[in-house]
Amino acid sequence: MLNGKKILYSGMQATGTLTLGNYLGALKNWVKLHEEYECLYGVMDLHSLTVRQNAAEFRKNARSLYALYVAAGLDPEKNCIYYQSHVSGHAELGWILSCFTYMGELNRMTQFKDKAAKHADNINAGLYTYPVLMAADILLYQADVVPVGVDQKQHLEITRDIAQRFNALYGDVFTVPEAYIPKAGAKIMSLQDPLKKMSKSDENANATILLLDEKDAVIRKFKRAVTDSGCEVRYAEDKPGVSNLMDIYGCVTGKSYEEIEREFDGRGYGDFKLAVGEAVAQELEPLQKKYREIMEDKSYLDSVISANDEKAAAYAAKTLRKVQKKVGLTEKLRRS
Ligand code: TYM
Repeated sequence: MLNGKKILYSGMQATGTLTLGNYLGALKNWVKLHEEYECLYGVMDLHSLTVRQNAAEFRKNARSLYALYVAAGLDPEKNCIYYQSHVSGHAELGWILSCFTYMGELNRMTQFKDKAAKHADNINAGLYTYPVLMAADILLYQADVVPVGVDQKQHLEITRDIAQRFNALYGDVFTVPEAYIPKAGAKIMSLQDPLKKMSKSDENANATILLLDEKDAVIRKFKRAVTDSGCEVRYAEDKPGVSNLMDIYGCVTGKSYEEIEREFDGRGYGDFKLAVGEAVAQELEPLQKKYREIMEDKSYLDSVISANDEKAAAYAAKTLRKVQKKVGLTEKLRRS
């Protein structure tokens, strides 16, 4: 508990710009959570280093991610939004936890296997221990709840296992967190291959809607979206393309599958795809406008970043000190 509320923690990698999947599966759902929880959101820049980055671009992307959080409606006065790399406790706790994580567990991580296949020339140790750093992010703040999309579920499970193992040895040090996966939007699929997750690293630009895509691009990509045989707008397992578009449309408009089916009854895929494109473009427009304003206001952004960095560091220090003590690391002596 913090300030009388349960603690919620989440974050995103600071690589490239966000996709509609990141937005609908995570960010859009975060905006109101501060009413119920004490919320912390990280710009996960240390995790991004597992893939080679151009330093100048990377710095820009991290700042841009921070601005997108705020533009999407996360109020930095009500949520602690900070850079992961500005709080050294993440790396320090990550090391300690790596000594409580088995290679057998890490070998089972499907995201590692996928990423290793994609980056065969750079299968570095950070990619392998990525879930341990993620566990450290969450456990450092004693989070009760972690809102994420479906693809992060396995990482949440290993986080729980590490926490329980540590607690069994040292007493109740960590809160064991629960994943919070939204009912709709938790897995937005590629527009070009609806059996694959929408991802920023997709080589086909038409597969992914980026949050900063212009209206024309959004509509064009939806018009080109792969649909299924037949022409009926219906949510069904054998219609992954149409079902994915229905998910997106439902998340953006708040309409149920039945309502969407009724709305497009007898109208065919062309009409439907255009409507989805327009609804998404309309949703993104105010966010993009706000984003541009925030990016231009350097002093505002700098001031909220530094205030929140300090807040996060203060929360983190408490847990880190407790863990160091429990495992028997000696306290630094102060010179008198
Ligand atoms: P990342 O940056 O890949 O994704 C950020 C969030 O977006 C969700 N997401 C999706 N949801 C629905 N459909 C999609 N196509 C889609 N693609 C991505 C993800 O599930 C995630 O919630 N390891 C994390 C970042 C991280 C983190 C943490 C998260 C580091 N430490 C601690 C929570 C708590 C990641 O790579 O997310």
